[in-house]
Amino acid sequence: MIKIAPSILSADFTKIEESVKMAEEAGADVIHIDIMDGHFVPNLTFGPQLVACLKEKTSLPLDVHLMVENPRKFIPLFHEAGADWISIHVEASSHLHKDITLIKELNKKAGLALNPATPLHMISEIIEELDFVLLMTVNPGWGGQEFIDSCHGKITRLKNWIKELKLDIPIEIDGGVKLENIEQILKDGVDICVIGSGIFKEKNPRETLIKIKELTKKYE
Ligand code: DX5
Ligand code: ZN
Repeated sequence: MIKIAPSILSADFTKIEESVKMAEEAGADVIHIDIMDGHFVPNLTFGPQLVACLKEKTSLPLDVHLMVENPRKFIPLFHEAGADWISIHVEASSHLHKDITLIKELNKKAGLALNPATPLHMISEIIEELDFVLLMTVNPGWGGQEFIDSCHGKITRLKNWIKELKLDIPIEIDGGVKLENIEQILKDGVDICVIGSGIFKEKNPRETLIKIKELTKKYE
């Protein structure tokens, strides 16, 4: 099943609970929470307290995307807050094996995120350990950016590589996905689509999410 993960980064921050409930009711599979530290990316967003609050409000898995330097320091905090999936950036950790092992020891799904210009071979020694791979399809830091077209090729190359290795690792993509371009992306073979502004900045977020979920069924 193709999963849709609405990113609350583009929701109205004064109405996050309502946004999450709307998304859940309209068919979202996962809630994506972007953690930015002002160092790895220039922007600042949420901390573990928000994750803990949302854990009380939804039964959907919470997908915590750590765009932070020194992710090892934060993994236990987000684990305690109730994250279900935790992804860290290849570019932000010098000890990937150690950090991915820590996430798995805490019984969370462990993902590695790659920026658009980071080559796939950076994860060749650790891919078998991963629960998912998160390909950034914009440069991380903000919602509402354009999907970088060269990422289509990267998605299909990763898909084929996973198949060659006879692994079953879902590919999550993040950035610039909307109702208008999602079909092309689904054809590339993604398993999980993060969508922020393509849901929450639309005139009718609920209707848009329902339409997106409907479209995914054609590609399952
Ligand atoms: C960007 C974040 C994304 C962001 C995507 O750095 O990692 O999760 O919310 O937003 P859209 O879908 O608007 O590109
Ligand atoms: Zn994200």
